[in-house]
Formats: sequence, C-alpha cells, structure tokens
Amino acid sequence: MEIKNETWGSRTGLILAMAGNAVGLGNFLRFPVQAIQNGGGTFIIPYLVCFVLLGIPLLFTEWSIGRFGGKSGNHSTPYILEAMGKGSWWKYIGVFGIFTNIAVVAYYTYIESWTLIYVFHTLFGTFSDLSQTAVSEYFLQYVNLTGSDFGIPLFPLWIYIIVLGINCYILSTGLGGIEKVAKIGMPLLILFGVILAVKGWSMGAENATELIPDANAWDGLNFLWTPQFSSLWDPKVWLAAAGQIFFTLSVGMGSIQCYASYLKANEDIALNSLTSGFTNEFVEIVLGSAIVIPIAAGFLGMDWVLNNAGFGMAFQTMPYLFQQWGAVFGTIAGVCWFGLLFFAGITSSLAMGTPWMGFMKDEFGWGKVKGALSFGLLALIMGAPTILFYQYGYFEEYDYWAGTVSLVIFAFLEMILFAWVFGINRGWEELNSGADIQVPAFFKWVMCYVTPVLLLFVLLGAMLTPEGNDWQEAFTGLWKGEGWKLDAHSLIAKISHEDLKHSLEAKEGTEDGNWLSDRVFFSNLARIQLVVLFVFISVIVWFSGVKRKSISHE
Ligand code: PHE
Repeated sequence: MEIKNETWGSRTGLILAMAGNAVGLGNFLRFPVQAIQNGGGTFIIPYLVCFVLLGIPLLFTEWSIGRFGGKSGNHSTPYILEAMGKGSWWKYIGVFGIFTNIAVVAYYTYIESWTLIYVFHTLFGTFSDLSQTAVSEYFLQYVNLTGSDFGIPLFPLWIYIIVLGINCYILSTGLGGIEKVAKIGMPLLILFGVILAVKGWSMGAENATELIPDANAWDGLNFLWTPQFSSLWDPKVWLAAAGQIFFTLSVGMGSIQCYASYLKANEDIALNSLTSGFTNEFVEIVLGSAIVIPIAAGFLGMDWVLNNAGFGMAFQTMPYLFQQWGAVFGTIAGVCWFGLLFFAGITSSLAMGTPWMGFMKDEFGWGKVKGALSFGLLALIMGAPTILFYQYGYFEEYDYWAGTVSLVIFAFLEMILFAWVFGINRGWEELNSGADIQVPAFFKWVMCYVTPVLLLFVLLGAMLTPEGNDWQEAFTGLWKGEGWKLDAHSLIAKISHEDLKHSLEAKEGTEDGNWLSDRVFFSNLARIQLVVLFVFISVIVWFSGVKRKSISHE
C-alpha cells in the first residue's frame, strides 16, 4: 500500500486544532452545571485529581496511539488498535472510535445550530423587549418544534442541516481547512470569553434589584472556589468529575487519535498534548466558570442558580439577562456569548468528522468530498430524529449511551491495550520519542496501574449506583446481608428504563404519564438506532478486513 501521509501545516495549527477539539460546548455549558449540581467547591478537588490521574494519562495514551498508527498509514482506531494488539478482534473495539463520533456529532451539531441562530436573534434584537418567561418560552418552542420562526415549518431542522453543511464543507477542504478554522475560531473564542468573564468577575452586586436585593455575582464565584472537603468521599461527585474530564478533553472518543495520526513520525507528543490539555483547562476553569454562574447569580441570586442550574440556562436565561445591560452592551454580550459557543462547538464537531473520513480514505480510497458528504449523511440520519423527537428524550438517550458510557468503556479498553498488551515500556518509548520535555516517570506508573483501576471504578460505580446514590448506606446494608439495591439511575437499571418507569408510576393516567410511556418508546427507538450504527460500522470494518486480506494474497 502506498503510504503518503497528509500532515498538519504547523505546530501552532496542530495545537490550536487539538485545543479546538477539546474546547467545546462542554467547557461553557456542561462544566458550570456539573460544578453546581455537585456542590461547587466540593466538585473542584475531585475534578482536578481526575484531570491529573485520568485526563493527562489518557491524553498521553491517545496521542501516542495516534502517531503510532499514522506511521503505518492508519488514521482511525480500528486498524491502529489491531496493529497494537494481538488478535484481529481489536479492530472491532476500534469501531467505538468511529461510532461515538458519529453518534455524538448528531446531537452536538444540533446545539451548535442553536448557538448560530441565537447570534442572529441577538443581532436582530428578537429578545430586546421580551420578559424572562417569554425568552425561556421561545427556547422551549424552538426545541419542541412548536414555534413558527419566519413561518417556516421545522425551522430548527433546516438550521441544523445548514450547520451540518458548513461542517461538511470545511471537512471537505481537509486538515488545512480545519487548521484555518481553529486559527480564527480559537483566538476569537478566547477574546469573547475574556470580555464576558471580566464582566462576570466585576459585576458584584451592581445588578441587584428590589425584587432580589441580595443578588451578588461573587456569591457564584465563592460557591465554586471555596474548597470543601465534606463530600470528598461521595462516589457520586467523583463519577461526575471523571465524566466531565472525559467529555471536556474529548478522550475515549477516537478523535484525538485521528488528529494525532497526522503528526510527522518524530514530532513531539509529550509537550503538545500537555499544551492542548492545559489550554482546555484554562478555558474551562477560568473562563467557563466566570460567565453563566456569576452573571446569573448577579441578577437572580444564588438560590435561583442552585435551583435552576441546567443546560438550558445558556439559552433560556442568558439572553434575557444580557438585555438588562442595555441595548448596546446587551447585544455585544449576546454576540460574544453565542459566538463563542459557536466557535467552541464547530472546532469540536469538525474533529468528530475526521475518524470516519480517515477510515474510508485508508481502506476504500474515498476522497475528501466523498468522505465529508457521507459523514454528513450519516450524521443527518442519526441527528434528524433527535430533533424531531427532542421532547421525548431522544437526545438524552444518545448523550447517555454514546456521549458518556461509550467513552469510559473505550478509554478503559484502550488503556489496557496500551499499558498491558502493547506494553507500557514500548508505550513509554513511543510517548518519549521526539519529546520536547522529559515526562515525569511518575506517569509511567500511573498509566500502568492508577488510570486503568480508576476507569474500572468509574465504570462499576456507574453500573452499580446504589439506591439514593447513598454508598455508605449501601455498604452497611450489604454488610448486614440486606443485598444491594440499585438506584433507578444506575446504568444497569437504566437498561430496563427503571428511571423512566420510576417517575411513570407516580403519574399513571395523567398527561405526564402518557408522555412518559411515549418516552420509553422513543428511547428504545434511539437505542436501536445506536445499535444499528454500531453494527453498520462493524460490517464496514469487517469488509475492509476481507479486502485487505485479498490484496495481501494477490
Ligand atoms: N470536548 C468537547 C467539549 O468539551 C466535546 C467533544 C468530545 C469533542 C469528543 C470532540 C470529541 O464540548
């Protein structure tokens, strides 16, 4: 096979693209919500520990796996894992590294499309005279497809298709296009983020109203940054912290491996991976925590934030709050906010397109245009139902199984492969070859023992979450011979929809009850779709294996 590697144009381009891959909606939408829901200051310590013990080792591993694969002309996980493992079945584990990207990009680009349309709404002043409830209502109508934007039926779906189209277009221009978007998008994102963060930090109590006289933005910052040791022993907080580290660093996905496979054979990975990882953490911890929470606390008070923390806050509440700063700064703030979200989103969704395209190019010689179009088509087939059935939890179902569970499973398996099958000594050598820094030997030990064990804990913890998430009680019960009662939200109970049924029982016969049984139906449909996607990619991988064999026999 002819091996002619496409490579990154420059080191800056590579780092910005990798940082762009990591910096995404997770930094600005998911992080603050996770932090609030898990006790603020209590969350930060497990979060930082997970960054060091899970995040950094996985970055090292995935960059090494990627560059290793690129050397033999492989740009996505199926054949890279096969080359590193013993046994051709590893390529089916590698299917995760394509599957997750397509499943996640399907709903991720949907959020991206909200951010784009909200930039325009801000510019056109759609929200200027609306009340808080009306702004929130607008969003709900949008996602429930009951609004009538410009009288166009299924308007959100069209915007989604446009955003998907923009992604495909950029992807069809190859690494060069991705680099260009990262070089423009990342600095702008940071600029917009800094403008809003400075506002968040300096707001204090200036926007307190008679209605909420004690509202103070600093309450938000204090809540996040006062370390608390109280629930350090609560596995729930650790699970949430680990989950956030995964999502935000884009590990366990297959996209980092793909990007890294376009490195030159002896290009540094140790320093580059740390630089992009730390850039992500700067954006997340410094900027991500300085916007939604303090601004909302400054207007509506910390109690409101604690009761309303959720993903919708960014779209349902922020546009209203910005308006309170007056027409001019309100518009600037809105454009900065939704603009930064858009850039954060697109530099990540582009990364999710590359594993599929890389695979089809390596195995079937598909060019960039064909690769990008087929990727767009797959994303659309997966994504359209998440838009049409958003209110029935289609989206959430994808996010849970593909955007959360799959990441941990895949990361665990690739960590075992790297440290134990490929062998940590070879792995360490791979990481250090061409390295511009000396990686502390401590990490060799961490990658071998600590990270895999932690990953296993995370997985088991999610599978076996005990009733009420009360681990202490559960262990005491087990000790007394009372068995282990699973929580309805544990992974195992979720398989049979215990979580939905749980709330269904209470609402039998009511309108909510009917809605919930629809939900069970649609979440099954979503699962079937995910399984079909996985099988579909596995079949293609199998077929490529047959093709490879027949070529080598010729
Ligand atoms: N890291 C991105 C974020 O924080 C999400 C992402 C996951 C992007 C996996 C690419 C691959 O939003």
